[in-house]
Amino acid sequence: MTKRTLILAFESSCDETSVAVVENGTKVLSNVVATQIASHQRFGGVVPEVASRHHIEQITKCTREALDRADVDYDQIAAVAVTYGPGLVGSLLVGVTAAKAIAWAHHLPLVPVNHMAGHLYAARFVGEFVYPQLALLVSGGHTELVYMPVEHEYEIIGETRDDAAGEAYDKIGRVMGVNYPAGKTVDEWAAKGEDTFHFPRAMEKEANYDFSFSGLKSAFINVVHNAHQRGEELSKIDLAASFQQSVVDVLAEKTERALDRYPAKQFILAGGVAANHGLRNRLSHDLSKKFPDLSVLQAPLKYCGDNAAMIGAAGYINYRYGDRAGLDLNAEPSLMFRHM
Ligand code: KG4
Ligand code: ZN
Repeated sequence: MTKRTLILAFESSCDETSVAVVENGTKVLSNVVATQIASHQRFGGVVPEVASRHHIEQITKCTREALDRADVDYDQIAAVAVTYGPGLVGSLLVGVTAAKAIAWAHHLPLVPVNHMAGHLYAARFVGEFVYPQLALLVSGGHTELVYMPVEHEYEIIGETRDDAAGEAYDKIGRVMGVNYPAGKTVDEWAAKGEDTFHFPRAMEKEANYDFSFSGLKSAFINVVHNAHQRGEELSKIDLAASFQQSVVDVLAEKTERALDRYPAKQFILAGGVAANHGLRNRLSHDLSKKFPDLSVLQAPLKYCGDNAAMIGAAGYINYRYGDRAGLDLNAEPSLMFRHM
């Protein structure tokens, strides 16, 4: 029988408090997620101070529940993994502090995890990883193309110069009266509409792998405001479809260009915006046509948004590579991928 390595994982970088137990980096024994969305909705986005307070209230309950649901106790856990960045400093500190306390009290190794590596490893729940690998990580805070020549080595080859894709979804959704986070609803509307507005595709043809979404966001807001001033009502489904088409065109185009330059055996799509149906369909269609030998893994819908299971999967890899943190581990709000 192969050895069972159980990781107790913590995620609290933004507005979800989550604790999970993951076996051998691939099997989710439990994944408890306490979402705070309802508390932030009336403000139209995450309020950091409110988020930290919720994390403090939830973290102990989530930990107990994660262990209970997995039907394990601390003596069966091999290591404690925790997101220590990037994210909101106050929110991160709650998870980091809880993980440190548990690691210390139960004499367990403490394994630091980068939140974006966590998103990437959500795809590990659908299949084996092979290298070299290219990942498109799209979330509410980040949009980046990451190249991994080998396991556990990350190189950011392109990223957004302004807004993240999810942030743009949330902002244009707000203009159409959609509650935060707006991505899912805009995605649903987009499926019913047509690209009639032809919004700009920023930096699509530029010879780099970077993105920009703030021009698209402004163009969208201008169109809606101008129509509003004229007393015109625009089709929300067409607005959503036009916005989504522009985002998906740019993400797909840059991904293909990156794959031309960085030949990979596998492509991974992950992060909150990876739940987008337009993006998933477009990438699986285009990439299989253009790169027939490329293995394409998309994070399962259930694990696209923030959760601790993905931190447990990434934490397992870090654990195997000997990454350890001391009790002086601090939150790093602007943490980047490092060569390790
Ligand atoms: O990864 P995530 O849960 O949190 C961060 O680490 O930022 O991503 C949340 C983001 C939000 O901006 C949300 O609107 C977006 O993911 N999102 C989507 C969809 N589902 C969630 N965006 C587009 N289409 C979706 N179906
Ligand atoms: Zn995230």
